[in-house]
Amino acid sequence: MRNLTLKFLYLLFLAITLSLFNSANSKSMLRLKRGASISVEGNTFITSPDNSFTCGFYAMPGSKAYWFAIWFTNSKDKTVVWTANRDRPVNSQGSRISIQGADGTMVLTDVDGNIIWQTDTRKSDVSAAELLNTGNLVLKNPRGDILWQSFEVPTDTLLPSQILTKEKRLTSSARKGSFASGYFNLYFGSDNVLSLIYDSPDTSSLYWPNPEYDVYTSGRTNYNGSRSAVLDDTGLLRSSDHFHANASDKGFGIKRRLTIDQDGNLRIYSLINSTGLWVITWQALSQACLVHGVCGTNGICVYAPTPKCICTPGYEMKDPSDWNAGCKPTFNNSLLNSQVKFLELSQTDYFGSDLYYKPNFTLEACRELCRNSLCKGFTYRTWGNGHCYVKSDLFHGHMSPDFPGSVYIKLPRSLQVSKPSIFHGSSTICESREAEILVGNSSMYDIPRRTARWGYIYSFCGALGVIELLFIVLGWWFLFTKHGVPASVEDGYRMISNQFRRFNYAELKKATNNFREELGRGGSGVVYKGVLADDRVVAVKRLGDVFQGQEEFWAEMTTVGKINHINLVRMWGFCSEGRHRLLVYEYVDNMSLDKHLFRLKFSRMETKIFSGSRYSQRFSLPPP
Ligand SMILES: *[C@@H]1O[C@H](CO)[C@@H](O)[C@H](O)[C@H]1NC(C)=O
Ligand SMILES: *[C@@H]1O[C@H](CO)[C@@H](O)[C@H](O)[C@H]1NC(C)=O
Ligand SMILES: *[C@@H]1O[C@H](CO)[C@@H](O)[C@H](O)[C@H]1NC(C)=O
Ligand SMILES: *[C@@H]1O[C@H](CO)[C@@H](O)[C@H](O)[C@H]1NC(C)=O
Ligand SMILES: *[C@@H]1O[C@H](CO)[C@@H](O)[C@H](O)[C@H]1NC(C)=O
Ligand SMILES: *[C@@H]1O[C@H](CO)[C@@H](O)[C@H](O)[C@H]1NC(C)=O
Repeated sequence: MRNLTLKFLYLLFLAITLSLFNSANSKSMLRLKRGASISVEGNTFITSPDNSFTCGFYAMPGSKAYWFAIWFTNSKDKTVVWTANRDRPVNSQGSRISIQGADGTMVLTDVDGNIIWQTDTRKSDVSAAELLNTGNLVLKNPRGDILWQSFEVPTDTLLPSQILTKEKRLTSSARKGSFASGYFNLYFGSDNVLSLIYDSPDTSSLYWPNPEYDVYTSGRTNYNGSRSAVLDDTGLLRSSDHFHANASDKGFGIKRRLTIDQDGNLRIYSLINSTGLWVITWQALSQACLVHGVCGTNGICVYAPTPKCICTPGYEMKDPSDWNAGCKPTFNNSLLNSQVKFLELSQTDYFGSDLYYKPNFTLEACRELCRNSLCKGFTYRTWGNGHCYVKSDLFHGHMSPDFPGSVYIKLPRSLQVSKPSIFHGSSTICESREAEILVGNSSMYDIPRRTARWGYIYSFCGALGVIELLFIVLGWWFLFTKHGVPASVEDGYRMISNQFRRFNYAELKKATNNFREELGRGGSGVVYKGVLADDRVVAVKRLGDVFQGQEEFWAEMTTVGKINHINLVRMWGFCSEGRHRLLVYEYVDNMSLDKHLFRLKFSRMETKIFSGSRYSQRFSLPPP
C-alpha cells in the first residue's frame, strides 16, 4: 500500500517535472518564409537543423520584457548569444517578428505597431529566414545566397567561426536581468590591436592588453591591418595582431562561446553536454580589478579577498544598485579650493588622468602640486627618488598588493572621513557585481580560473546532487530496483571530471597507433605516445585492472585534476568505456626529467589513493 502511494507520487512528480520542461504546445520550424510572422504569444521557434540553437522571443525569467533572440537550446539557462533589440525590449503581448511580403525586410514590431528593429534588406528577393547550425540567423534568397546574417551584427558573444572584423565590436550587457548595452567593448583599435576598452559617456580607457606595456611586449603587432579575430572549432582564439589563446579543453566536439561579460572580462565558455552548464576555459584578465571602470568613476576595486567595489573615502555611490554609475563626492567641490587635507591609501593607485607626472620628486613637493584646483589627489610611487602623478580624476582605482606606493586623496579639511573598511577589515564593503567569479591575485597567474571552474563544478554538483540524488536515486532506489548501486553514482563522478575532455576508446587506439610506442611503465599502468586528430602529441596512460572499479578511477581523475592545477604535467582528458580506463596528458618533450617526474607522480598518487590519505595529501608535490 505504502509502496503504491510512493510510486504514484514519484510518477506524479516525474510528470510535473517533465511538463515544466516541455512547455505544452511549443512549435518549432526550420524556416520563416517571406510573408509569415511569429507572435510573442505564439510559442513558435526557429531551430537550427541540429537543434543546437533556437531563435524566437525570449524573456528573462520573471520579466515581462521580450527580446527577439538566439540561444543555445541545450544549455540549462538557455544562454542567449544574440538579440536583435538589446536596448529596446518589446511587450509580452502583441509583439511580432515578420518578413514583410512587400519588401523582404525582417521587422520586429511592438504591441502598438511601432517598428523596434529591422534588417537592411529592403527591396530584396529574400525568401526565408533560417538558423544555421553555427547559430547564425540568415536571410536567404531563392538561390540560397545570404542577404543578411546575425553574425554581422554581434552583441556580446562571438560564436565559433563568427569573425570579428574592423567595423564590429562586442559590447557587454549592463547588468544582470537585461541585455542592454554596457560600457565594456572588445574591438580592433586604430592601431590594429585587438583590445578591451571601457567606454562610458564620461570617459574611455583601454585595459587589455595591459596598457603599461607596449604592443610588442604584449606579444602583439600593429602591422597587420586586416583586423580579424575568430574562435575556431577547436577552441583556439586567433587574431590578426598575432594574439592567440587556447581554451583549456582544446579539441573538437565541444560547444563554446566567447563572451564579454558584465564584469568587463573576456571569457571562453565551454558547454558540458551532460548538465547543460558552462565552464570557463579561458579568460583575458587574471584579476577582476585589472578591468578599468569596473567600479565606475571615483570607485576603487579591492580584494577582500574576493574582488569588490568601494567608493573613495569622502565619496558615495551615485546609484546604490549600480556600480557603473560610480561614486560622487559627499562634499561641495568648491571646498577643495580652500582648506584641504590628504588621506593616504597605501598600495592603491588610479589609472590615467595625470595632470602632471614628475620623476625625482619629494612627497612634499608633490603635495604642493596638488594644491592646483583641478587636482583631486595624487599617486606617489616610492621607486628610486620617488615619482609624482597628479590626478585630475579618480578613475579606475584599484588596490594592488605589489604596488610600491600610495595614493593621497584631496579632501576638504572640515570633512570627517575614515579610511575604507578594507584597510581595517570591518564590514561596510559593498558587494561586487560578480562576486561568484573569483579571480585570484597577481602571484597566482594560472590558478584563479581553475579555482573558478572548480567553484562552478562544486556548485552544480551541489545543485544536481540535491535534485538528482533526491529525485532519481531515491525514487529509483525505493521503487524500481531490488539491487544495490544506482547508476547515477557514475554520473556524479563524471561531473567532477567534466573539466576534461572525454575521449572514446577507438579515438585513443587510433591516436596511439594501437598502443605501439611505449613511453614508460608505472605501478598503475603503461604510458604510450600518441597523436590526436588535431595533431596534438599526447601521452596516454592505460590504467591496469586495479582501476576497473568506477570508484578508483574517478578518485584518480579527481586527484590528477587537483594536481593539474599546479601545472606539473597537464591532463587533457580521459576515456572510460567498458573495461577501458585511460588518461590523456600533454606530451612533454624533455623526457629525461619528465619521465622521471611522471613515474614518480603516479606512484605517489597511487600510494595516496590506496593508503586512504589522499584527501590530506592531495597537494603535496614530488621533490624535483
Ligand atoms: C594578417 O592577418 C590575417 C588574418 O589573421 C592573415 O591571414 C594574414 O596572413 C596576415 N598578414 C600578414 C602579412 O601577416
Ligand atoms: C594552441 O594550440 C596550438 C595547437 O595545438 C599551438 O600550436 C599553439 O601554440 C597553442 N597556443 C597557445 C597560446 O597555447
Ligand atoms: C556533446 O554533444 C554533441 C552533440 O550532441 C556531440 O557532437 C559531442 O561529441 C558531445 N561532446 C562530448 C564531449 O561528449
Ligand atoms: C557649492 O559652493 C558654491 C560656493 O560656496 C555655491 O555657489 C554652490 O551652489 C555650491 N554647490 C552645491 C551643489 O551645493
Ligand atoms: C633622477 O635623479 C638621479 C640622481 O639623483 C639622476 O641620475 C636621474 O637622471 C634623475 N632622473 C630624471 C628623470 O631626472
Ligand atoms: C596571493 O596569493 C599568495 C599565494 O597563495 C598569497 O600568499 C597572498 O596572500 C595572496 N594575496 C592576496 C592579496 O590575496
